[in-house]
Amino acid sequence: MTHKPLVLSGMQPTNTLHLGNYLGALKNWVRMQEEMPCLFCVVDMHALTQDSGYALPEALTRATREVAAAYIAAGVDPAHTPIFNQSRVPEHGELAWIFNCVARLGWLDRMTQFKEKSGKHKERASVGLYTYPVLMAADILVYKATHVPVGEDQKQHLELARDIAAKFNNDFGAPDFFPQPEPVITGTATRVMSLRDGAKKMSKTDESDASRINLTDDADAIAGKIKRAKSDSFPLPASKEDLKDRPEAENLFNIYAALAEQDRDSVIAQFAGQQFSGFKTALADLTVAKLGPITAEMRRLLADPAEIDRILKNGADKARALAAPIMDEVKKRVGFIV
Ligand code: TRP
Repeated sequence: MTHKPLVLSGMQPTNTLHLGNYLGALKNWVRMQEEMPCLFCVVDMHALTQDSGYALPEALTRATREVAAAYIAAGVDPAHTPIFNQSRVPEHGELAWIFNCVARLGWLDRMTQFKEKSGKHKERASVGLYTYPVLMAADILVYKATHVPVGEDQKQHLELARDIAAKFNNDFGAPDFFPQPEPVITGTATRVMSLRDGAKKMSKTDESDASRINLTDDADAIAGKIKRAKSDSFPLPASKEDLKDRPEAENLFNIYAALAEQDRDSVIAQFAGQQFSGFKTALADLTVAKLGPITAEMRRLLADPAEIDRILKNGADKARALAAPIMDEVKKRVGFIV
């Protein structure tokens, strides 16, 4: 049996989103919704595995609305593609429990992200952080989703989802019940780095706000941050070899190429021999032109939280209608009386 193509992805509601999230993920999602049916959730249950999500309920609520607003402002059309918060669809949590009983401790012990996130004090990490990838597998498989756009760092979690799907299918005599979801790796073509340090990824947790362009920044803030971005004292490169060991220049060229939807070589050719200052002005103008309307829409949406909540509720209703029959079937397969 072949499974119908369906895309599912999600982002955690933690802090604010930035240019890297837009170019690395959201822009691809917007394109994918033209090609296949998609579901995009805000994974609020996953956010609870982080201390920041756990200790600050109001911040979690606000961040959930903000991520939903970013999806919409970037161009995900909620009339066409359900946008919802994960906790609103209880089937995610129900399937995660069953998957907790399918996945083996040894499989989870290999997860590198848990090792990184739990740090030196594994015994103090929450159990939720440990089973985080099991919940992620449930997010995907509760809809029998086949394609999952994620960053490179989530590849291992996708492999786990495939292992869980295969073991469930095998253990419950249901070959092909769950698909083998494929990662669609996004963000490698456009790894957006910090504007203060070309060796570090642009990150929502970087303490310097000047290091990133937030999806809530207005045009002046965007232009100012680009103009103050770290560069170097060499002339603009004439070829891609000239970009070697110049991470800041490389990053700015990558951002330009991604926003202009041009390949990097043609951007290099366009600016070869010019001054950094002129290039930065062009990049600031381009960023404001492309991102300004999105960040303005984001601020407009955030001014009306009730509207975002309606969109989330509506998306959750649609998502539930898809998940409920699959979950019923899962329950029957494992022997629950439904
Ligand atoms: N773990 C993902 C991340 O940090 C977020 C996520 C949770 C997710 N559930 C998902 C991504 C399901 C794709 C599909 O990026």
